Formats: sequence, C-alpha cells, structure tokens
Amino acid sequence: MNSPTSKEDVWTVQSILQWTSGFLQDKGISAPRLESELLLAHARQCQRIHLYADFDAPLSDDERARMREMVKRRAAREPLAYITGLREFYGREFEIERGVLVPRPETETLIDVCLEYLAADSDAHVCEIGVGSGCISVTLALQRPQLQLTATDLSEIALNCAVRNVAKYSLDRRVTIQRADLFPDNHPLFDGIVSNPPYVTDGELSDLEPEVSVHEPQDALVSGADGLDCLRAIISRACDTLKPEGWIALEMDPAQCATVTTLLDAEGFGDVKTVQDCFGVDRIVHARRAVSESR
Ligand SMILES: C[S@@+](CC[C@H](N)C(=O)[O-])C[C@H]1O[C@@H](n2cnc3c(N)ncnc32)[C@H](O)[C@@H]1O
Repeated sequence: MNSPTSKEDVWTVQSILQWTSGFLQDKGISAPRLESELLLAHARQCQRIHLYADFDAPLSDDERARMREMVKRRAAREPLAYITGLREFYGREFEIERGVLVPRPETETLIDVCLEYLAADSDAHVCEIGVGSGCISVTLALQRPQLQLTATDLSEIALNCAVRNVAKYSLDRRVTIQRADLFPDNHPLFDGIVSNPPYVTDGELSDLEPEVSVHEPQDALVSGADGLDCLRAIISRACDTLKPEGWIALEMDPAQCATVTTLLDAEGFGDVKTVQDCFGVDRIVHARRAVSESR
C-alpha cells in the first residue's frame, strides 16, 4: 500500500487506519491502532466510535492533509496530547499544550487517595503545588462540589492552561490558580496538601522515552540529583501550612517512597502510608499531621 501522501489513491477510514497503525508501530509507538484512531477522529472532528460506522467513507482532502501532518508529528514521537490538544484524565477531557506536563494514569491514584480524606460534602480548603494542566485540582473540585482549592505553579504556560481548564468546567469560584514558588502567598492554613511535583533525577531524563525526554517540559519533571529537591521542600514547609489534623498526599518515583516516609515521620506526620498505582508500583505516600503536633 502506498503512503497516504500519494494523491491518486482513494483513502477510506479503514485503509488509512490500517496504514497509520503499521507506520506508527514501525516508529516504536506502543498502542499504534488506538493512537491512529484517536488521530483520525481528531482529523475528522468526530468521536472515535463513529469511525467504525464510517469504515468505507473516503477522506476529504482536508482530512487527509490534517491526518498527514499529525501522523508526521506523532512519528517524531511528539506526545499525542500535544498534537490533539486534549487528554483524558479521570474520565474527563483536559486541554493540553506544549510546555505542560501530559496528565498520567498513575496520577488518578493520587485523586483516589485525596478523596479518601474528603467526605462527599467536604468544604475543606486544599492546596495543590505544581498545578500543570489543572487536572488534579479540577478533578477534586468536580468530585467534591463544595471543596475549595488554591493551586500554584511557576510555569506561565502551565498557569494559563490550568486557568483554561478551570474555566472549561466553570470552577472559577472554587479553584484559584496562583503563580508561586511551591506554596501560595498569604495563604490560610489548609486542610490538605496534594502534589505531583517534579521527581525525576538529573541523570534519568535522557533514559526516558522521547515523548518525555525530548518533548515534555524539563521543569515539570526534573528535581535535582536524587529527584527529591521539590518533595523535600514541600515536606519541610507542610506542617506550617496545614491545620492541626491536616493531611498530605504526594506522588513520586517508587524508589523515593521510603525516603519520603522517613521525611514525613521526622516532620511529625503520623499514619504514613504508601499506595500503589494502577500499574502495581508504589507511587503515592500520604499522611496526616499528628494531632499532638503543635508548631
Ligand atoms: C509533574 S508536573 C505535575 C502537573 C500536574 N499537577 C499533573 O499532575 O499532571 C509538576 C508541575 O510542578 C511545577 N513546578 C515545578 N517546580 C515548582 C515550584 N517550585 N513551585 C510551583 N510549581 C512548580 C511544574 O511547572 C509542573 O507544572
């Protein structure tokens, strides 16, 4: 089969899916059929499920041109989310752009852990550090309709993206996005702190898939020689930021969980627990501030 660049051929939904899947597979993409369907659905501006009803439909010139451009970018290992501008997280769609970390499935476990601390009618005030696209704060606000959140980031691109996603779900009155280094300025005491901070080590980045090492923002990923700079800084200030029985939930690399547990113990947190993510590896450490602690 010729490539879809050849003008003479009539390309149908079915034939372009077949060609694109094989092409992306050769480029090392791990789910080539699924990604081909997502790209084609985006090119045709339809839902993925509708491709199946239109299997024999020919592509218009515009659709073919859009598809060609997107497949080229994906073959260069640009993340799918940057190409389509969208990513699903916790069953909802988020706007994504270059310069913002693509939300990960393992971060959905962080949401589940936070929800355990928050009753259905909780009106708690939670602080998120490193908001990125806003996927964590927006999801928590939608799962708990009375929750208040203040979320920070240092990246202007991330802050703008988070603001857009907050607006997309009409959460402007309950989710405040602020430019700050870790904790927000002039903040009240919070009921909880949640963060998926940068936690890759300086040396690890180049070993990661090109989608991550080449295309995602380094500031969202890397945090010092042992990857713990950001986590250490958050934990050292957490007690001064939380109400007496406040909680903290942090995402990290599996190899960092033991150290983070020790750091939280040392800061006077109790009931420190580690939770595995959807891939079965240690990923989240969470704890509650010990009641007797008075700082
Ligand atoms: C791993 S990403 C997480 C993004 C998003 N919360 C998520 O889970 O998809 C970490 C985020 O922390 C931000 N960040 C890094 N250092 C920071 C700092 N000192 N203060 C605030 N945000 C920071 C980065 O810009 C990035 O958006």
